[in-house]
This record gives sequence, structure tokens and C-alpha cells, in this order.
Amino acid sequence: MIELGTVAAILEPQRIRGLEMPWNRVMGTTEGPAGAARALGPWHPQEFMAECVETVPEAGGMMTFVFRRCDGAPLAFRAGQYVNVAFPVNGEDQDPVDRSYSLSSSPTEPWTFSITVKCDPTGLVSPWVHENVAPGTVLEMLGPVGAFHLPDADRRARYLLLAAGAGITPIMSMLRTIHSLPGTADVVVLYHGAEAGGFAFHEELAYIASVDSRVKVFYALGDRSKPEGWEWLSGRLTAAMLDDVAPDANGRQVYACGPEGYLNTATELLGKIGVDDTSINMEFFTGDRQTILEYQAEIALAVDIAEEIAEEIADSAEDYYESQPTAFGLYEPGYDAEGPLKATGLPLETVDPDAPTSEAPDGSPDVGPEAATPDASSFDTVGTGSLTLSFMRTGINVRIDPTEHILGPAQRAGVRIGANCKEGMCGSCKIVKLSGEIEMNHQGGIRAREIDAGKFLPCCSTARTDMVIDA
Ligand code: FES
Repeated sequence: MIELGTVAAILEPQRIRGLEMPWNRVMGTTEGPAGAARALGPWHPQEFMAECVETVPEAGGMMTFVFRRCDGAPLAFRAGQYVNVAFPVNGEDQDPVDRSYSLSSSPTEPWTFSITVKCDPTGLVSPWVHENVAPGTVLEMLGPVGAFHLPDADRRARYLLLAAGAGITPIMSMLRTIHSLPGTADVVVLYHGAEAGGFAFHEELAYIASVDSRVKVFYALGDRSKPEGWEWLSGRLTAAMLDDVAPDANGRQVYACGPEGYLNTATELLGKIGVDDTSINMEFFTGDRQTILEYQAEIALAVDIAEEIAEEIADSAEDYYESQPTAFGLYEPGYDAEGPLKATGLPLETVDPDAPTSEAPDGSPDVGPEAATPDASSFDTVGTGSLTLSFMRTGINVRIDPTEHILGPAQRAGVRIGANCKEGMCGSCKIVKLSGEIEMNHQGGIRAREIDAGKFLPCCSTARTDMVIDA
């Protein structure tokens, strides 16, 4: 049996100077970052669908919900930012209720991300979230949003992180981020809670503090009486308490999050002990009117930016596909037992070359403005099946069986439809139906208002009648 040796002393890890977010290096390279790496640039709020993949109960009546984007992209954000989530609290057919929640996970692990929600039994949304959001739930999100976040690079990287109650969520994201990065950070966390058993993330905080010598964590119990055995701090935030945990507070960047009263006290005390205004960053967790208005303004701006970005992405995707006509083999001719197939990969139907061409009602050749409107009867027809789908932009008719989902035969016929999940979740295959009836079994990849506007997801829809489709 091999004896494990005893290590006399655990050496401190070697670290580079300063704290730097990984995307800084990626974005700073001159050769142009790869597409996936570019996606890590945390500058652009986007509207996207996300699927819950895990729920983790936390102390203090909180629950962490872990998500991944349905389009498979990472979520690029800065530690401390939040997402705005549309919750269908009143049912899928009603307008959703929007709420903003800080991201509690680290942006250095961007393939999944978390929000942590405290249940307020008198609230409209948080009890619904706790009861209804579970692995498999798909929600519409907007983000990242918010100016309360760590800087991308900080050569001094000395922080005082103050949290009260649910205000720990963005602070947790910051701490996880700093812990996951090299750099000579120096972090003091002071976390106020109402009761000894109510400190969310306390096990992870204890772990981080035990393995990362750059981090110190202190707990305080507010003005409640101390339970037997409580060895941490007690009482509300005071200048003496700040001095106890961080005697050098006025040389640190302070990030504070919590209820309004707590933050007002913190602002006053930090000013008294000489912390410069420019070093104090605050996020209010309760909704006074001013805060709500600020959030609304931030979200409205984020919506505008998200729309611009979505257009840019759509344009560049179109350019990409235009430049790569053989991508996915969509235009590769194929063969079967009966001989060559048309480029579409589906057997061609016989088309009568002498069939009459379209004419204007008076019998004259159709040369007016209407001539620009494609006439589906002149399109090639491929596939077999009892129903005909006319794809107007592609200029092709596809025969399909009423039991098969529309996406597969359409793509095989060469219709360009982007698709990721193929399960009605991500919304990436959304197209517009000009006429005809479908039956759709989606999983949140489309909103009621989009359906009303004639959109549908071909990956999870079957045709009930002949259809005309804008694709
Ligand atoms: S491919 Fe994801 S919704 Fe259709």
C-alpha cells in the first residue's frame, strides 16, 4: 500500500500581478478572437431563452436556480450584474411579469449561470419562482444589465465587500470570480444576517476563506440577540465594526449590496472613515421609487441595445451562410436507388414542362409589379406526402407527411432554417407562416404574442393543411 507523504508546508500559489478578467486578454489579441471567445465579451445585453438545469436550496429561504442558454452560447457578464427575467406567473397566455435578479455565479464559468432568489411569501413572483421553476423550465431573459460590477482589470485589487441579507447574491458572484482568477487580490467580506441559520452560501464562503489566503469572511448578526455559541460579530454596521474587519478600508474599493437602510448607514460610515465616494459602489435590493426608476431606465436601455445586437447577429449570420452555400451539405446532390436526386436531397416530382405559366387575368404576360411576387405553382416540388408546404423565399414546394415535423424535410430540401435544440425550446428555428394551419408542441421557445404574429417553430410543429411559409 502506498503511504501518502506528509507535506511540511503548503506553498502559496504563484500568481500574476493584479486581477484581470479572462476576456480582457481574449479581446486584446490582435489576430482577432475566435467566435466563441468573442462571445465572452461581456458588453452586450441580449434577449435569450434559458433553461433551468438545477435548483440548489440555500439557507435563509433562498434558492439558487442554475440556467443554460437554449442557443448554446455562454452568458457573458461582469460579476455583480443582473438579468431581467420574464416569469409567466399568470399563465403562458398572459403577459409575463418581469423581475430583475442578480447573477450569483461567476462569469469565469459562463456556460451555465445562476440567479439566487429569496422567497418573500407576500410577494407575487418569488413564491411562484420557488414553486414552479425547476430543471426543464424555459424562461425568456434579458441581460446582462447593471453598472454595479467588478472592473475588468484592477492592479491593486483590494476590496471590501459588504452584504446584508439577500444582498449577498452579487457579492457572491464577485467573490467566486476573484477566487477563480489569479491575481494579488485582497478581499474582506462582511456579511450581515438576521439569524444564525440564515446565511446563504456560508459553507462555500467558509471553504473559499479556508483555501484562498486572499479572502477573509466575517459574519454579523445585526441587532438580534446572539444565540449560544455565536462567535462572530453582532450588532448593526458601525465604524468600529468596519475598523475591526478592515482597518485599511479607505484604501479599498467598496461594493455594498442590501436593503436601503443598511446601505444608507454604510454610505455615511464609509464617508466618516475616509473612503472616497469614487471608491464606493452600491446596489439597492429594496425597491424605493428612485431605485425602481433607475432599474427601469437601465432595462429600457438594455432592450434597445439587445435589439441592435440581435440585428447585427442576424445580419452577420446571413452573410456567413451566404458565403458558405455548401455548409451542412444542403446543396449537395445525392443519389438513391432510383437515380440522382435533385440538389435538395429529396426525390423530384415530375413537372410537366408544357404546363401553363402564370398569366395576368387579361391573358397578357404577367410583367407588372405583381410579377415580382413568387408564384408557388412554378416552384420545383420535392418530397412525398399528402400536404404541400410552399417556401416562398427559397422558391420550393416540399411535400410532407402530416405526422412529421416540418423542420427536417424543409432543411433537407434546402430551406435555410437555423435550429439548435430541435425540441421547441430555444426559439432559434422560428419562422413566419403566411397561410395554413399547424399543430405546435413547443417547450417555451416561442411567446404567445409571437404566435399571434404568425410565427411558429417548425422543429416541433406538424402541418394540418397545405401551407405557405416565409422562408
Ligand atoms: S430548434 Fe430550438 S425551438 Fe426549434
